[in-house]
Amino acid sequence: MGEALNGLKRTIMCGELRETHVGNKYTVMGWVQRRRNLGGLEFVDLRDRTGILQVVFGEEINKDAFEKANTVRSEYCIAVTGTLVKREAANKDIPTGMVELKGESIKILSESETPPIYIKENLDAAENIRLKYRYLDLRRPDMQKIFMIRHKTAKVVRDFLDQNGFLEMETPILGKSTPEGARDYLVPSRNYEGKFYALPQSPQLFKQLLMISGYDRYFQIAKCFRDEDLRANRQPEFTQIDMELSFVEEDDVMELNERLVQKVFKEVAGVDVKLPIERMPYKVAMEKYGSDKPDLRFGMEINDISEIVKDVDFKVFQDALANGGSVRAIKAGNCATMGRKQIDKLVEFVKTYGAKGLVWIAYKEDGIKSSVAKFMNEEQTKAVLDKINAEVGDLVLIAADKNSVVFQSLGALRLHMAKETGILENNNEYRFVWVTEFPLFSYNEEEQRFQAEHHPFTSPMDEDIQYLESDPGRVRAKAYDIVLNGEELGGGSIRIHDIKLQERMLKILGFTEERAWDSFGFLLEAFKFGAPPHGGLAYGFDRMIMFLAGTENIKDVITFPKNQNAFCPLTEAPNVVDETQLNELGISIK
Ligand code: AMO
Ligand code: AMP
Repeated sequence: MGEALNGLKRTIMCGELRETHVGNKYTVMGWVQRRRNLGGLEFVDLRDRTGILQVVFGEEINKDAFEKANTVRSEYCIAVTGTLVKREAANKDIPTGMVELKGESIKILSESETPPIYIKENLDAAENIRLKYRYLDLRRPDMQKIFMIRHKTAKVVRDFLDQNGFLEMETPILGKSTPEGARDYLVPSRNYEGKFYALPQSPQLFKQLLMISGYDRYFQIAKCFRDEDLRANRQPEFTQIDMELSFVEEDDVMELNERLVQKVFKEVAGVDVKLPIERMPYKVAMEKYGSDKPDLRFGMEINDISEIVKDVDFKVFQDALANGGSVRAIKAGNCATMGRKQIDKLVEFVKTYGAKGLVWIAYKEDGIKSSVAKFMNEEQTKAVLDKINAEVGDLVLIAADKNSVVFQSLGALRLHMAKETGILENNNEYRFVWVTEFPLFSYNEEEQRFQAEHHPFTSPMDEDIQYLESDPGRVRAKAYDIVLNGEELGGGSIRIHDIKLQERMLKILGFTEERAWDSFGFLLEAFKFGAPPHGGLAYGFDRMIMFLAGTENIKDVITFPKNQNAFCPLTEAPNVVDETQLNELGISIK
């Protein structure tokens, strides 16, 4: 049974003790990392979230304490009081390694069974076990480091935004389901049988209303909920640093956020971010990197070779060009020696992105080899190599298709080749870029209609408003994403603040006037009462922490995350509920 504290107070944390503390008496409390017996002494490594301290028990120090210490095992929770002394054999590996505490008394606050996972750094255990025993997983020092980083980041963000005139405000979690986003998480209402609240996908509409209310600058570290397919950087429940500002244009939002990012990365990770952060129009990002979140830490840019191959009598090229597509290429350095099997794997890889195949040209020491040698003469092949600045040793990979497929597949292939060739190993750059001038709409082939690329409240660029109805596809938005090393860290836009323009926008998205008012009437109504020009941005807070903590798994930075199937192995949510609960809600399960 666990002993009570009974008035005993902790006087210092384990990890804080240094040589300057020698000679004083302290009480520390924590968990037993391990206990070992050496020459009649019991050594206990005691751990709390600040670090590990060696405690030594011996018959000569205190007989009772010594005997009790003999019974403790790993992960027992104990309190020890004693005098700090200099250690005979220093341990250079830990900050407290010069000292040890002489155990003069010990309380066993809680015993522990053998834990199902090791409490140690770099644990290699099955994820579902880690998540089932998440409270033990979170005991591990590397996990604790991450949550200290998370805390510090939130604090730096709060301080910065406070100093820049922002108010931290909350918005509802129980909201209204509105169309146009991801799939909602729904909450049935008891008071209104058959009706549902929706959990917010973001505070977007509420923060706009707060601008109309005159709060001028708002922020919130906000929980958001999206019922999407999960990936390494996506959770159903995640956190945004969400902000909105009145009387601003794109530059104002970007300039402020550059300073925020610079401060966070400096203070939390010691990383210097050079300002201003580079900007790149969406069109350039797509054409050069095949992605709206380009990784600029390496080149391997996409080149359009349509002009060079337009006369090549190869059906694949001709079909692509005839259908308004293009032929584009990337070059992979030192890959000319890749064998057939390896190249076949690349073909399989791009097929998952919709490509039908890959043409290759290998610029080898002993000449040029190519999969289209029978269609392309030497001159044409040379022209391609020239265009892409290929040198001996390079492998050129070519895709021909409609542009969206070419970009997607070569963009992904570029990242894949970077991984395969290891060019990013030992790269510790933080390459930020703003991607700007996004298209306002994207065309949804399945539903045969335009949909908002960002969200329906994003403002078109002034010079493109004229094309809203006649050519929606060419309208660019006052939207910007902040991208870091190929990941979308955050995104935002200047909003529409004019009711007429907002109504036009919704009409293009396929809303009848009636449905527009049904769905977004509260916002449209608010626009009738002096809405200020406004805009904002939201970061994926979890994604930011992933970078600051150096992990590629979003679950590492969330205390109690869901697994890949949106299930919590610890609490076993989601789960069934009582019949009476369902009855109260007027719900029956089909
Ligand atoms: P957006 O939908 O781009 O914008 O979201 C902003 C940022 O949130 C992060 N993010 C996620 N992180 C983890 N798991 C998810 N499922 C997930 N989904 C998004 C991304 C993304 O950049 N209201 C707008 C912002 C605005 O316009 O001000 C919005 O929500 O890092
Ligand atoms: P096929 O005509 O499908 O036998 O393809 C002939 C060669 O062209 C194969 O090496 C394919 O990988 C390649 N290929 C097919 N379609 C494309 C495409 N859209 N872009 C680039 N290469 C392609």
